[in-house]
Amino acid sequence: MPLILANLSSEVLVTQVMPMPPDSAHFPSRIHFFDTTLRDGEQSPGCSMSQHEKLQMAHGLADLGIDILEAGFAISSEGDFAAIETISREVRGPVIASLARARRGDIERAAEALKRAGRSRIHIFLASSDLHLEYKLKISREEALAHAAESVALARNLVDEVEFSPEDSTRTDPAFLCKIVSVAIEAGASVVNLPDTVGYATPSDYAGMFRMIRENVPGADSVILSAHTHDDLGLAVANSLAAIEAGARQVECTINGIGERAGNAALEEIAAALHVRGDRYPMETRLNLGKMYGVSQLLAKMISFAPSPNKAVVGDNAFAHEAGIHQHGVLSNPLTYEIMTPSVFGIPANRLVLGKHSGRHALRSRLIELGYNLSAPDLDIAYRAFTELADRKKAIYDQDLINLVAHHQRHEDLIHDEPAEKLH
Ligand code: KIV
Ligand code: ZN
Repeated sequence: MPLILANLSSEVLVTQVMPMPPDSAHFPSRIHFFDTTLRDGEQSPGCSMSQHEKLQMAHGLADLGIDILEAGFAISSEGDFAAIETISREVRGPVIASLARARRGDIERAAEALKRAGRSRIHIFLASSDLHLEYKLKISREEALAHAAESVALARNLVDEVEFSPEDSTRTDPAFLCKIVSVAIEAGASVVNLPDTVGYATPSDYAGMFRMIRENVPGADSVILSAHTHDDLGLAVANSLAAIEAGARQVECTINGIGERAGNAALEEIAAALHVRGDRYPMETRLNLGKMYGVSQLLAKMISFAPSPNKAVVGDNAFAHEAGIHQHGVLSNPLTYEIMTPSVFGIPANRLVLGKHSGRHALRSRLIELGYNLSAPDLDIAYRAFTELADRKKAIYDQDLINLVAHHQRHEDLIHDEPAEKLH
């Protein structure tokens, strides 16, 4: 199956090649965050949420400042319909979206669920790769073009905005992809999403696809192009960033990167990259980054798993330092080993984790936080005892340190600063 980027065949509908516009008012540098935690995210094992939980998440996402909230797939179940309807009624701020196949029944059901939204969007998806057309939908390319045109035109009269996604874009014949995108724009789509449905693309493939669309489809620069990536090769976030460099101005992502199979692009990682690497991505967002950790924790409590400890930005260890050299550096100046400040994302503080790689600076700092200010000789004794303990235990907790100090207080009169009171 050829990946995109092959030369366009003569079949391509559009011939005009447009230069890449500069990042100007015509080509604004505002990135729209489209959150699909409640749709693509919820569609994965262990991630289902009750209607009440979805509403809570939707409020959290609105506070976070996301631009578009995909609340579900209205026709897929009564539960999804009810969640979209409730969120449309109660949540203000983001545009509320429902997914729909390119079918009248789906589109009318989505419009019905979105009736009370402040601003509504129907997100129509239709497979475009030959593999999907032949084996899944069993329709020809011509039929797919007709469905795309009819469904977008229908949705255009029912809601405020229409987004069109040629599913499996990254394995679609480039000429046909240009054709179906062009048909959708002509029918009234204001957002065109190019999903890497199966997580197959590399960053340069994915960026190339966006450039190809912008260079070959008339009107492509009058709509918002959107990236939607899956993490099967661990490239979802890198692919989304590559798409932004190539002109995408909407990114579809989920909190904690939950989603089908290996997940979707993690919203917090894209946001962190745009924030930390503003030199490379001079983009604006509406995100209130300080709410990020809270939303991540809220989701983790609702579904059956938390982000892995080493997950970027929101994992338990994302700002934890155990190695002594790193701890010493971070105590002197956090920038030595931290490229971003945890509090920017609402994460309480950087955490020095005490373990066998820690040094006496970190031990001293933690003991002071616990109320024990030891003299240099006492700190030496405590540090020796600490390293012996750390050799035996994988993690050292505050209670271990308190016990250690108490033990030495009894046997070696270690403590100087009213520790007995503290210990009691
Ligand atoms: O991955 C995908 O292709 C999707 C579409 C419905 C946009 O989730
Ligand atoms: Zn998806």
